[in-house]
Amino acid sequence: VQEGSLIPRFGRARRDPSLAVLEGFHPLKHALRFGANVLEVVRSSDADLDALAAQLAPDLAERIHELARAVEPEVFAQLAPLTPATGVMSLAERPTVDPIAILADERAAPIVLLEDPRDLGNLGACVRVAAAADAAGVLSTGSHDPWSPDALRGGAGLQFALPVARVDSLAALDRSSAPDAPADDRAAALSAPRRPLLALDPSGEPLLPSELPARAVLAFGTERHGLSDELLACADARISIPMRAGVSSLNLATSVAAVLFAWRLAGEPGA
Ligand SMILES: C[S@@+](CC[C@H](N)C(=O)[O-])C[C@H]1O[C@@H](n2cnc3c(N)ncnc32)[C@H](O)[C@@H]1O
Repeated sequence: VQEGSLIPRFGRARRDPSLAVLEGFHPLKHALRFGANVLEVVRSSDADLDALAAQLAPDLAERIHELARAVEPEVFAQLAPLTPATGVMSLAERPTVDPIAILADERAAPIVLLEDPRDLGNLGACVRVAAAADAAGVLSTGSHDPWSPDALRGGAGLQFALPVARVDSLAALDRSSAPDAPADDRAAALSAPRRPLLALDPSGEPLLPSELPARAVLAFGTERHGLSDELLACADARISIPMRAGVSSLNLATSVAAVLFAWRLAGEPGA
């Protein structure tokens, strides 16, 4: 690939649902650690990527050195709307993620369900903490793509560490109405015990970490309006993270972190 053709290539990749555009060092690091097929690594010729890799990811330093090719800073600056300060950008294949297979995961770990998140950085931060807590997956509804470059930056590329997918609607999660799912996954999802749906809502019953059921779907609402009436109506319980009087709510990613780590620190109940 010629230097000049990198600019349209990265531009097209931003609109290609089969590709992930990784802006900066951390998304590349996690993509490599968690087995992504990395197609292209480009560094600005004035960036010392070897030193950065030696400092932040010595386990990957040699691999990154082999993969990266240098381009003029003027070319590098045109690969993204905001030039990454670390001087590296990459393209990787997105894994195919099937929401029905996520539902069928037999481990006790919960799934995080984000209803119509609006802020891509926040959405990425939710993925990052879900990966750190070893959740079974992250599903989001609404128009925003959890694999968009901004969400990948917010998630430090940890989308590659666990299954992450956008679903069209809550109905797509209904195991009995997913005719497009591969037959094996569908059979597994249908035969697995039903997952309890817990709505995280500031007006719910106070969270008791040791009583969180195994394999829960933990649903979090949109930043401004919270959970929809539709989701609240389907939920098995409404749970709140207790807060000091006068505080109306936590930030979305902060509340995901609080619940997932309450679950983890309680000894992963239901396991
Ligand atoms: C910024 S909050 C939305 C605030 C919205 N005005 C409301 O009252 O739900 C985004 C999401 O974070 C979760 N959340 C925030 N604070 C919470 C709390 N104290 N208890 C339970 N969930 C909380 C909820 O799922 C909420 O829908």
